[in-house]
Amino acid sequence: MTIAPVPRVGIIVVAAGSGTRLGAGAPKAFVGIDGHTILRHALERVFAAPSAQVVVVVPSGREGDALSEALEAAGERRDLVSVVVGGQTRQASVQAGLGALWADVKIVLVHDAARALTPPEVFGRVVASIDAGRAAAIPVLPVIDTIKRVDGAEVVAAVDRSELSAAQTPQAFRRDVLERAYAEAVADFTDDAALVAEAGHAVAAVAGHPLAFKITTASDLDRARSLVAAAPIAPAAARLEHDVAIPRVGLGTDVHAFGGDGPLWLAGLEWPGEPALSGHSDGDAVAHAIVDALLAAAGLGDIGTHFGTDHPEYAGAHADVFLARTLGLLGEAGFRVGNVSVQVQANRPRFAARRAEAEAALSAALGGAPVSVSATTTDGLGFPGAGEGVAAFAVALVVKA
Ligand code: CTP
Ligand code: MG
Repeated sequence: MTIAPVPRVGIIVVAAGSGTRLGAGAPKAFVGIDGHTILRHALERVFAAPSAQVVVVVPSGREGDALSEALEAAGERRDLVSVVVGGQTRQASVQAGLGALWADVKIVLVHDAARALTPPEVFGRVVASIDAGRAAAIPVLPVIDTIKRVDGAEVVAAVDRSELSAAQTPQAFRRDVLERAYAEAVADFTDDAALVAEAGHAVAAVAGHPLAFKITTASDLDRARSLVAAAPIAPAAARLEHDVAIPRVGLGTDVHAFGGDGPLWLAGLEWPGEPALSGHSDGDAVAHAIVDALLAAAGLGDIGTHFGTDHPEYAGAHADVFLARTLGLLGEAGFRVGNVSVQVQANRPRFAARRAEAEAALSAALGGAPVSVSATTTDGLGFPGAGEGVAAFAVALVVKA
């Protein structure tokens, strides 16, 4: 086996915008062109360009979705993919992407996911310009329309269009130049070239491409749809298996010590007369293990990502709250729950008599997905055997909705 060299090029694909002007009821990158989203089309072309680290920047809650799209587009290059959450402005989103670049990356490309049909060759052109010694290079297209300067409803001047070009992406930069420009930026710019120019660097113009147009409005989307209908993405052999929506599994474990106040809460049930578990919430190790398993299955991080102690609203919360919120996160990322299996290791409480009740409570909190609960003692060994606490282990299966 050969180990691929760490790429010297990093591509930040910004996809964290809300798509207000498109008005499709979902973040723009997640709107479909054909059977595939805008993001997926953009990534198909990114991965057809020469090998690079690819950082996809998405709205919060869309990480799992974006990761699935990126892994499908990446094929054998799946190790090159990462997903981060963006910010309120495009500039903040690029900044978030910069933070995820590997140390070996020397040339950074910033690309709008909204320019979904940009051909791979444009990526090569901007990189070649940096390799030729430029600090910054952007693709441009000549302006075709006759341009006028207007003031309200009055034409006040003709503008010589031969001086004008429309800027596109991917825009390429020497990494040190881009990082410094970002660190020192005091205003918000609509593209990275403007920010780097403001920092005093010359920007090279290379040939853009008509297909690198930005999908901004509904008519742009229509244009993209007719172009894609004429040349749909051919599923590569290496990718076929992913196209049939392979289910995903996740593993979660949790441990809580006895010593909390009030009654015991475990597996979504109250257990009168049993000693309570301690924890930021109700200490329900069974519910928390299930949450971790579900989030892991969907690639959405773990319980600390979404329910950490910095979320006071979850103090004292019970299983139904945790599981309902987790179900919501999975739904936003396009997953539904197949089933969950959870095992408790504890001396007490005794589950035999209440197993069906626990399964029903947990299943109800997960919108009816089957949940199996099993319980075991540990033959007196370890902390569960010593009666110090409870351990729970969960496996969850999710499928793309
Ligand atoms: N973008 C981003 N983070 C933001 C805003 C924009 O990553 N806070 C990305 C968009 O996802 C898009 C690119 O920057 O790929 C260009 O932005 P634009 O076309 O303006 O997209 P939106 O901001 O989503 O659209 P709108 O302005 O209509 O809301
Ligand atoms: Mg915008």
